[in-house]
Amino acid sequence: MSSSSELKSARRPIIRTPLPGPRSEEIIAQDRQFVSPSYTRSYPFVMQRGLGMMVEDPDGNIFLDLMAGVAVCATGHAHPEIVEAIREQADKFLHVCAADFYYPQLPELARKLVEITPGSFEKRVHFGNSGAEAIEGAIKVAFHATRRQKLIGFHGSFHGRTLGALSVTASKAKQRAGFGRQALDVTHVPYANCYRCPYNLKPETCGAFESKGPHCARVIEEVILRTTVPAEECAAILVEPIQGEGGYVVPPASFLQTIREIANRHGILVIADEVQSGMGRTGRMYASDHFGFVPDILATAKGIASGLPLSATVARADLMDWTPGAHASTFGGNPVAIAAALATIRLLESELTANAERMGNYLLAGLRELQRKHSQIGDVRGRGLMIGVELIRDQATREPAVAERDRFEQECFRRGLLVIGCGASSIRLSPALIIEKDHCDYTMQIFDEILTAMS
Ligand SMILES: Cc1ncc(COP(=O)(O)O)c(C=O)c1O
Repeated sequence: MSSSSELKSARRPIIRTPLPGPRSEEIIAQDRQFVSPSYTRSYPFVMQRGLGMMVEDPDGNIFLDLMAGVAVCATGHAHPEIVEAIREQADKFLHVCAADFYYPQLPELARKLVEITPGSFEKRVHFGNSGAEAIEGAIKVAFHATRRQKLIGFHGSFHGRTLGALSVTASKAKQRAGFGRQALDVTHVPYANCYRCPYNLKPETCGAFESKGPHCARVIEEVILRTTVPAEECAAILVEPIQGEGGYVVPPASFLQTIREIANRHGILVIADEVQSGMGRTGRMYASDHFGFVPDILATAKGIASGLPLSATVARADLMDWTPGAHASTFGGNPVAIAAALATIRLLESELTANAERMGNYLLAGLRELQRKHSQIGDVRGRGLMIGVELIRDQATREPAVAERDRFEQECFRRGLLVIGCGASSIRLSPALIIEKDHCDYTMQIFDEILTAMS
C-alpha cells in the first residue's frame, strides 16, 4: 500500500503491479465465491482508499477516478467537510426511524430539497435509500393521487431493478430476462436521441424547433394515447431529463416541454428521474433546470449524500396527500446520510455546481477537438460533468463500436483511469464535481493515446 501522503499528493495515476495485483486477486476470488454473480463488473478494480479525485487499490496502485462510484461521490472521496458532518452526527445518534419518530435533520433536508428542486409550488418529500426506492415512491404517489395505473416510459431508460422500477426500465433485456412478466403496466416509446433518431428524422425538420414539438414527443399523444394507453387511465409519464445508462443522451428542450404540455392536457403526471442527472452534476442543481422543465414529482439519489445511501421523492404537496402508513421504510432518511447530504448541498451551492459547469464545458470542448482527430468518435454530448463519448465503427453508417468501447474501458484501466460505459457504445465521464483542469487535460491526453493506438 502507498503512504497516505502519496495518495494525497497524487495528481496522476501510479500503476505499480500488473492489474489486478495479487491482493486485489485475492479479494476478487473471495467475491466470486460468496457474492451474487448478478453484479456487473467491467474490469477488476478493487477499492481500498480514496481521497479527492484519486483512489487506491490494495496493491498500492493509484487511479484517477472519472466515474465517482457511478455518479455518486459528488464531492470526491473523503471530502473533509463531509467526513466531519458524518462524524458529528454519528457521535449523536445513528438511527431512530423516520417512519415512527421525529428528528430535526429530516425536515431540514426536506425543506432544502423543496427549495432546490424545480417548481416554486408547495412540495412534500419522502425519503428512501436508493434510486430505485425513489422511483418506487414516485410511482406510488402518482398511482395514489390519480387512481390510475398505467405508465409511459422511454426506451433506453434506466430506473432501477426493484420490480416496480424494473417495469419502467428499458435499458438492457438482460435486466429483465428470467423474471417473467413485469409488475406494472408500462408502455415504452423512443427517447429523443437526435444522433440516432429512431424515426430517422432531423431536429431541423421533426418539429423540435417549432411550437408543435418534436415527433418523438408528439407520438405519445398522437399514437400511444389513441391506441394503447387510454389517457384517463395513464397515471404518469416517467422521463430522465438527460438519459443516463442509455448513453448520456441530451434531448432538445422541446422534447421535455412537449411531454409537459401533453401531460397537462390529459391530467397525466410527469415524473422526472434525476437520480443520475441531479445534484449539481450537469452544472445546474437538476438537469430539468437546463430545459425549463418542471415535473410534478422528482426522484433524486446518487450524488445527494456524497456516497452514503439516501434518496428522496419530491412531489407537489397536493399529490402527496396519502395517509400515515401508506408509504415508509425503516432506514429511509437515515440521519447520518442526511448530515452528509446537507454538507453536500452546501458544497454544491457554494462552488461545486459552478465547477461542474466550468470543467464540463472545458472537457466537452477538448473532447470535440479529439472527435475532429479521431473518426472512432461519433458523438460527444452532455451537460456539465455528465458527458458521453459515443464510439462508432464507421462515420457513414454510425455502426456502434461495442467491442471497441469495452476495449477502451480496459485500456483506460490499464493506464490508471477509471471510466465506465453507458448505452451501446459510449464512454461515460461522471467524475466528482471537484475535478480540476489538469485532471481533464490528463484524461484527454490518455483518451488521445488510446484512440491513436486503437485506430
Ligand atoms: C436514472 C437512474 N434512475 C434510477 C437508478 C437506480 O438507482 P439505484 O441503483 O440507486 O437503485 C439509476 C441507477 O443507475 C439511474 O441512473
